[in-house]
Amino acid sequence: MKVLIIGATGQIGRLAIREALDLGHEVTAVGRNVDRIKPEIGLRVVKADVQDAESIKSVMPGHDVVVLTFGAIADFKTLLFGSRVCEIGTKNVIAAMKLFGTPRLVAMTSIGAGDSAGHGSWAFRNVIKPVLLGRIMKDRSVQEELVRSSGLAQWVIVRPAVLNDNEKSTQLRFFTSFDGSSEPSDIARSSVAAFLAKTIADRTFDSSSVLISN
Ligand SMILES: NC(=O)c1ccc[n+]([C@@H]2O[C@H](COP(=O)([O-])OP(=O)(O)OC[C@H]3O[C@@H](n4cnc5c(N)ncnc54)[C@H](OP(=O)(O)O)[C@@H]3O)[C@@H](O)[C@H]2O)c1
Repeated sequence: MKVLIIGATGQIGRLAIREALDLGHEVTAVGRNVDRIKPEIGLRVVKADVQDAESIKSVMPGHDVVVLTFGAIADFKTLLFGSRVCEIGTKNVIAAMKLFGTPRLVAMTSIGAGDSAGHGSWAFRNVIKPVLLGRIMKDRSVQEELVRSSGLAQWVIVRPAVLNDNEKSTQLRFFTSFDGSSEPSDIARSSVAAFLAKTIADRTFDSSSVLISN
């Protein structure tokens, strides 16, 4: 399939490019700092800012699937004042997808967004999220609502648990609802990237929000 990865210059984004190419997809990689991506066969790299509607429109034509891996850079200013990059960027992406008839969206968000709020490890629920990530999470929840109400033919929200840089694992746990019987722990960026790449064509979790964790 022809896949557009937005946020492709990030840690998960770069791993997702590799996984998608290995599955035989043709990939267009989008980000601002595109010098982080090495050119190779099957890969087109385009410099664009997801907050710039025109640049997202210009890169959209000809793709079957869009994968979102972008997110606010968690620097001091963002932690203090918040960010609307997920809201603005996702609005731009959905509008461009509708304009060019791109049917499928795989949107990576985060544990702590939407109805996953209040879940995760003790440290995440009680310290990391409330103290550090409250404002960033608001933007993620708005992003999720935009995807859910987009009217796109096919969409999936993928919420990674707390990230680490461990080896890739295929032994994942999936949470599509939360009854408190078990809590998500953490997950390797490499495992998230592999799951996103699989979800390009796999429709198991279509029209739902799935939290993935080891
Ligand atoms: N830390 C955790 O435990 C955790 C858990 C769950 C989910 N998450 C989420 O996972 C996301 C990705 O993780 P990661 O490790 O891959 O982060 P990362 O390396 O910081 O990547 C973030 C990406 O977002 C892109 N981006 C930011 N603003 C952009 C803009 N205006 N236009 C286009 N691209 C933009 C950046 O690209 P450029 O700078 O090149 O534009 C970069 O590629 C994070 O944003 C975070 O919200 C984190």
